Formats: sequence, C-alpha cells, structure tokens
Amino acid sequence: MKITTLTSISLAAVIAIVAKADTAAPSDGLFRIPIIKSEISQRARDSRQSWYVTLRKYGLSRTKSEMESQAVSAVPLIDYYGLVDIGTPPQTLKLQFDTGSSRFVISTTECPVCSGTAPFNRALSSTFRAGVQPWNIRYGDGSFAKGVIAEDKVTLGNINVQNQKLNLVQTESVNFDDTVDGVMGLSFGAISGSTTVFESMLEQKLVDQGVFSFFFGKRAINGGGEVIFGGVDMDRIEPGNVITYTNVTEATHWNIDVQDFIMNDGSFAKDKNTTPIRSIVDTGTTLLVGPEDWVRWYHSQIPKSRKFRKTWVVPCKGHSKLSVVIEGKAFTVPYEDLTREYIGFGLCFSAVQTSSADYLILGDVFLKNNYVVFDQAEKRVGFAPLKTEAREVTVTVDTEDEDAASSRVQEEL
Ligand SMILES: *[C@@H]1O[C@H](CO)[C@@H](O)[C@H](O)[C@H]1NC(C)=O
Repeated sequence: MKITTLTSISLAAVIAIVAKADTAAPSDGLFRIPIIKSEISQRARDSRQSWYVTLRKYGLSRTKSEMESQAVSAVPLIDYYGLVDIGTPPQTLKLQFDTGSSRFVISTTECPVCSGTAPFNRALSSTFRAGVQPWNIRYGDGSFAKGVIAEDKVTLGNINVQNQKLNLVQTESVNFDDTVDGVMGLSFGAISGSTTVFESMLEQKLVDQGVFSFFFGKRAINGGGEVIFGGVDMDRIEPGNVITYTNVTEATHWNIDVQDFIMNDGSFAKDKNTTPIRSIVDTGTTLLVGPEDWVRWYHSQIPKSRKFRKTWVVPCKGHSKLSVVIEGKAFTVPYEDLTREYIGFGLCFSAVQTSSADYLILGDVFLKNNYVVFDQAEKRVGFAPLKTEAREVTVTVDTEDEDAASSRVQEEL
C-alpha cells in the first residue's frame, strides 16, 4: 500500500481512507517510526566521545594543527536508534537513522566479533539476494569495517522496500558499538555510490511526498522521537509557524547555507564579516561541531567559558540562547541544551566543539529544538520551531562525582 501523507488541512479526508485501508493505521494517517534514545548513551552521557565520533565519521581532527597526527579515535556512542525489519520473515534490527551518511550498514552473523545486539542472519531470509560487490570503510585511526553488498526487503512501519541494497559487515577491526546493529544512511546515495532506503522508496513509488521528517523529543517523551517517511507532522510545530525551506547547496550531505549565528548581542556574520556559513544537517551527530574561528567566536559570547583539556567548557547555568539564522528566520537553542555534563566548579562540557573542517555540523542539540524536514525530491531542508511542550527542558547537572571532578579541575585550571 502507498503511504498516505497529509497536511493538517487534509486531515479529515485522509482519516477515512486510512481507516478503510489499514486498521492498524494511526488516526491521523501518518506512519510514525519511533526513534529511541539509547540507554547506554543516556547513562554514559559522554559528550567527548560523541564529539570524537563525529570527527571520525567526517575524517576530521579536533583542530587544523592536529590534522597530520589523526589522533582522534573513538568508540561510537549512538544517541538514537529505530527498529527496522529486514528480510522475510522480518528480523528486527536496531539502526541509527543517520542523515550524515549514505550507506545502509548492518551487522551480520557472518562476522565473528561484530557490534550489535541482534545481527542479521541471511540464512533465515527467503527474500535475501546475495551479492559479491565488496565495500569497506577505513578510518584515520586504522579501524575499519568491510563486507559485501547484498539485497533484501526492508520494512519501515507499513512501507515495504524491495531489494534494498545492504552493506553487510563481515569483518570489523574493533567492536564499533554494542548498542545498535547498524546505520541506515539517509544523506544522498551519490556520496558512496549507493541507493539509500529513502531513494528506494522514491524509485518504487512507495511515498506520496518525497520528504522525510524528524522529531527529536526531550523530556516530554523520555528523549525519544520519531521519523516520518513521506510526510510532515504539522502537529509537532509551534502554532503560528510555517516550515522555512532552504535549498541544499550540494546534494551529497544535507549541505545548507546558514546566514548567521546570533548569541546575545553578537552576530557571527557581522563580527567576522563572513556569510553564509556552510553547514551539514546531521541526525547522527550529537553536538554542534564547527571550525575553530566559529567555535572561538561562539564561546567569546559566553562569559567564563574557557578551554579545558583541549575542549571547551561553559558555565552550567545561563540564560543566553543561540539563534541559527536560515533564510532570514532564527531557529533557537536554549542555554540548557548548549551545556553537557558537569566538569566541576559550575562548569559543564560545552555542546559546541571544534573540528579541522571549514564547515559546521548541526547535530541533535539543534534538532531537539527544531522540527526538520529533509526534502529529497526538491533537494531542500525545512525547519520549524518545535512545539513548546516538546521543547520543555529541565537543567540536569550531574552531581554524582562533583567533588572528584572539582579537585581534578582545580589541578588543571
Ligand atoms: C531553490 O531551488 C529551486 C529549484 O532548483 C529554485 O527554483 C529556487 O529559486 C531556489 N530558491 C532559492 C531561494 O534559491
């Protein structure tokens, strides 16, 4: 069945159709795939690791001067995953939905020491089609994953994608991650010569609208969220707002131009006389990771922020907010989301960190506050402020090891 999409206007009409076609369909006709906050990453909340994961994913270092050493290595901590059925009968895998990569990578039972909780077993699937084309990923630190590309059926909610190209992991140099069984890339397949699962949905005409939309929730739904393939859930958006679209500047990653960043009275574009700022919208990145000059400018707007062990730390409490200006409209991130775990002396790890790249990566810190629509058909990205109730936050400062951390910081400051 074709997925039914809707805007709030066509709601009543669509309910009737959906109710007839599929009794399991939700009342508003949008098929939501829940995305779940990983328990491991919630427990560890190690922002430094998630920063390194982003650097490794993009082949970057912390700073330009570190480029040669490629010192960055990491054990990935994935913040969010969704459940995806692969094969016939379906095997349910926990996958990260990653708009910052394009391959559909899954752990398999063929791999002797692979990551994951429930790797895919080809022998159990009647729709599996073997392949011989090899693929591999190799990182700057020498770690790698490799295998062959095969095909099988993939089911997301009520959408059945036939013959989806899957990058099977058959060998892994290190155990990348035990919290998920793979990564479902949702950038443009062209980066790696693959066809993403959403590109398959378009080719197979399984969705009415060539868009998929992400909602990352905070406290309201225990940090989970949802993705909708083929539609937009206008009900997530703060009333009185529309979706602001900006064209993708290069259809590889979800590259967009950000006009300005505003923090307190500072404007990056005015202060540095540069605009626009190339940015990648990445659901698979936790923090805001950017060029050193931008990161230094950002922290110069926050009194008492400082460098600590090559990372930026900021006061845990504050009232400033960051505005990201896209197509003339400001999308904000409150101060609570710009601070991460407690370091000591009222200082927290900053959600904004450096990279050797000359572009910015807009991760979940930004997306938790703004609904995002990835429009594959029109090659543009849309943003709208999330409803206030979904954005509600509590400041959680982890005080568990406060004393130990304080004395450590005192030694090093
Ligand atoms: C975005 O791209 C579309 C189609 O390529 C074009 O018609 C439109 O003018 C572009 N919008 C902007 C603001 O550049």
